[in-house]
Amino acid sequence: MSGAENNIHLHEMFHIAGGNFTNAGSISSQVKKILKEAGFSSRVIRRTSIATFEAEMNVICYASRGNLSLFITPDFLKIVVEDEGIGIPDVDLAMQEGYSTASERIHELGFGAGMGLSNIKNNTDGMILTSKFGQGTHLEFLISLEGEDKSVPLLNAGG
Ligand SMILES: Nc1ncnc2c1ncn2[C@@H]1O[C@H](COP(=O)(O)OP(=O)(O)OP(=O)(O)O)[C@@H](O)[C@H]1O
Ligand SMILES: [Mg+2]
Repeated sequence: MSGAENNIHLHEMFHIAGGNFTNAGSISSQVKKILKEAGFSSRVIRRTSIATFEAEMNVICYASRGNLSLFITPDFLKIVVEDEGIGIPDVDLAMQEGYSTASERIHELGFGAGMGLSNIKNNTDGMILTSKFGQGTHLEFLISLEGEDKSVPLLNAGG
C-alpha cells in the first residue's frame, strides 16, 4: 500500500441532480468512456459501469443532489458518491435484495426492484455505505486492477 497514495489520480468529479431522470445514466456513460479511452479491460469497464450506474440512479431517485468522483490508482479504481438528501435510516435493510422504497413514478420508469445496492456489492471488490438520516449518504466502492495490463497510460500519467 505504501506509495500508492502518491499515485492517486482524481480523474474527474461529476455532479448528479436529484430527480433528473432525463439525463439518467449520463454520468456512468462518461465514466465508461474515460475507462475505455484509458484502455482498461472490458471486465473492469463492465463492473465499474454497472456499479456506477446503480449509484448514479440512487442519487437521482432518492437524493436532492450528489457528487460522484472517480479516482484511478495503479492498484484499483475507486468511486466515491456523496449526496445530500433524506439518507437511509437502516443501511442493512437497504442492502437486502428486493428492499425498496421506490415511488410509483420510479417503478413506472422501470426502477425500484431493490437490486441496485446488491448489484454494486456483487460487482465490486469492496463497498462502504454510510448514511446520516435526514442529511445524506456516502457510498464508495473499489474495483481491483489486479491482473490488468500495467501499460494503461493513465496509470503512468502521474497525479
Ligand atoms: N442515495 C440514497 N439516498 C437515500 N436512500 C437510498 C439511497 N440509495 C438507496 N437508498 C434506499 O435503499 C433502497 C434500496 O436501494 P437499491 O438501489 O438496492 O434498490 P432500488 O433503488 O430501490 O431499486 P433498483 O436499484 O433495483 O432500481 C432504496 O429503495 C432506498 O430506500
Ligand atoms: Mg437503486
